[in-house]
Amino acid sequence: MPNCLICADPIAPFIDFGPMPLGNGFLRPDQFAEEYRFPMQVGFCNGCGMVQLLAQPERERMFHENYAFFSGTSRYMALHFQRFAEQVNAGYLSAAEPFVVEMGSNDGILLQNFAAAGIRHLGIEPSKNVAQVAIDKGIATVTEFFGAELARRIVAERGQADAFLAANVMCHIPYLHSIVEGIKILLKPAGVVLFEDPYLGDVIEKTSYDQIYDEHTFLFSVASVGHLFGRYGMEIIDVQPQTTHGGSMRYVIAHCGARPVSPRVQDQREKEHALGLHRPETYDRFRRNCEESRRQLMTLLTGLKAQGKRVVGYGATSKSTTITNYCGITPDLVEFISDTTPIKQGKFSPGAHIPVRPYDEFAGRHPDYALLFAWNHAAEILEKEKAFGAGGGKWIVYVPRVAVLDGEE
Ligand code: SAH
Ligand code: TMP
Ligand code: ZN
Repeated sequence: MPNCLICADPIAPFIDFGPMPLGNGFLRPDQFAEEYRFPMQVGFCNGCGMVQLLAQPERERMFHENYAFFSGTSRYMALHFQRFAEQVNAGYLSAAEPFVVEMGSNDGILLQNFAAAGIRHLGIEPSKNVAQVAIDKGIATVTEFFGAELARRIVAERGQADAFLAANVMCHIPYLHSIVEGIKILLKPAGVVLFEDPYLGDVIEKTSYDQIYDEHTFLFSVASVGHLFGRYGMEIIDVQPQTTHGGSMRYVIAHCGARPVSPRVQDQREKEHALGLHRPETYDRFRRNCEESRRQLMTLLTGLKAQGKRVVGYGATSKSTTITNYCGITPDLVEFISDTTPIKQGKFSPGAHIPVRPYDEFAGRHPDYALLFAWNHAAEILEKEKAFGAGGGKWIVYVPRVAVLDGEE
């Protein structure tokens, strides 16, 4: 039996998605035969409460010079990170010349706000292509993987940090012990860590199982994050739910006793208890909900095909790889997936091999139905696609349940 990556207790899977390709592994037809897959199973650790993948591809296979995810593709996310920066600035940077470090800084979507305010900063981003976009914007960036060793070097060369930030990356990292050890070394005695990731409570409540893919090693909760940082003499001092990525949690963490703890932390722990996040049965129910969601989505798509309707996917998200492969969605059910990211266009979706086409092909000839793979950006997308609905187009969603939305909703 595999062992928990955090506390080493043995864990059994509660769901098995079968052999899965990489969520961001968009590919060309000449690469189909050699396509990589890994056994995607998820388990819950009774010992420390951590929900995690039981096996994962090696990190260089996922994060490299052709990394397909550029944070800046969403205008809404740019605004979200601007507000995040404002919160850090106003609430946590009281030192004379503060130093802000971000892990997984990608194209600089968050740090650009600190750079603009003249605040000393450092991004840590191993995927060289996305890091280059940040560097070109004048954002100080090292193109390496963060860990305890790099933390020591940063302290030696630039001193300790007032704030350590991370968004949608902590949950990507199987070697979290090295990360938290690094944070402990890097952070000033009164420094703060603020990080956010998709929240386990939302995934369970919304059956948003597409949050599970190769890069998402963990689905965090206040209980499991509190346990992890507690091992290093750190504690959660605040939690702030976010609507981004289908429901995320921002955790604020400090060295134990360094800062007051908000009552929100205990409130959220109680909510998690009420949701049953500490009970194995909850995860069995989640699996059954996933199976039912799959059944309903396939019934809908095969029905539309039988009626001769055109269905196109909207947003070639990494999450959609889990949906298409777990449900068995093939190009005869979904004609193509529209995506604005140049590096994905002209390629095919991982595993299901649905063509990814430029946005113009969606806008130029609207389909009857658009399967909203980028459902986490629904507000932004429905707002800008009013013409689709006005022309009779309908949206298919599957979170929190499979449904057809009237395009004008
Ligand atoms: N923070 C951005 C990007 C998230 S994608 C946002 O929220 O939009 C995750 C990023 O983390 C990728 O760019 C990946 O290259 C980077 N990453 C993965 N492992 C890392 C590590 N050990 N240290 C620093 N960055 C890492
Ligand atoms: P994400 O869900 O991981 O943020 O990825 C969103 C994907 O959807 C990314 O490939 C860009 C794409 N996208 C569009 O094609 N159109 C849009 O309007 C938005 C917001 C995203
Ligand atoms: Zn554990």
